[in-house]
Amino acid sequence: MRRFAGLHLLHLESVDSTNSYVLSRPDLLLKAGLVVYADHQTSGRGRMGRRWFLGSRGNLAASLVIQPDLPKDYLSCMTLLVGLGVYEALSTLGLEGLSIKWPNDILIADKKVCGILCETSGAAGLQAIVAGIGLNIRGDRDDFPPEVRGRLTTLESHGVRPSRKEMLELLLDHVDRVLCLASEGHVDMLLDKWERCSSSIGRRVRFSQDGNTHVATIAGLGPHGDLRVRLAGSASLVTVVSGEVEYL
Ligand code: BTN
Repeated sequence: MRRFAGLHLLHLESVDSTNSYVLSRPDLLLKAGLVVYADHQTSGRGRMGRRWFLGSRGNLAASLVIQPDLPKDYLSCMTLLVGLGVYEALSTLGLEGLSIKWPNDILIADKKVCGILCETSGAAGLQAIVAGIGLNIRGDRDDFPPEVRGRLTTLESHGVRPSRKEMLELLLDHVDRVLCLASEGHVDMLLDKWERCSSSIGRRVRFSQDGNTHVATIAGLGPHGDLRVRLAGSASLVTVVSGEVEYL
């Protein structure tokens, strides 16, 4: 039986954004384990203020209300833990070239198939984290606007065609399993696993920090899910706590 993710499911035909819907409803935020998923999103949101396009053909937009049983220090790891659960679910489908990119993109052959947006409510006394998952299942990248097409892929393009509901149940089982292990004190083991699944150790990346752009090599994760990189031409490690990195 699930303990943290997917205890109750709420289906909507159309909504602006499943994350915004949940975040604007304190009654829903109190329902630990709730999942809201929608057929259509009119203003899906991605990380860093970007838009998230759902495509027109049965892709998945879901928001999980999670009240994690974790020490506060580890809350910053939530996004990586949810990503690991999604990765593990997708890895049961026999996809080749599956990997996780810090902090929370799931890639197939370096193209994004799933994005995760974890947000917390500003409402006093509410501890819930809303983990929004957008997964491209159907069609191919031509179903998406030209500006994002080159970076995306879908499960169907890789020969896998699960229904949205099957996929949601599979994701919830795996995310729940990861969160159970985390609550039982295994976060370090899960972050080690994340590193192995990311296939990104040693990769060259470009990133911006404090107004400067840097080129570096990924060294691994820090204890709370931050990214450790070695700047080009330097032996010292630098920590990237937020934002994103671009593979070179
Ligand atoms: C990203 O990679 O930038 C994160 C994308 C997250 C998209 C999902 S779709 C369901 C949920 N509702 C939203 O508005 N966004 C998230």
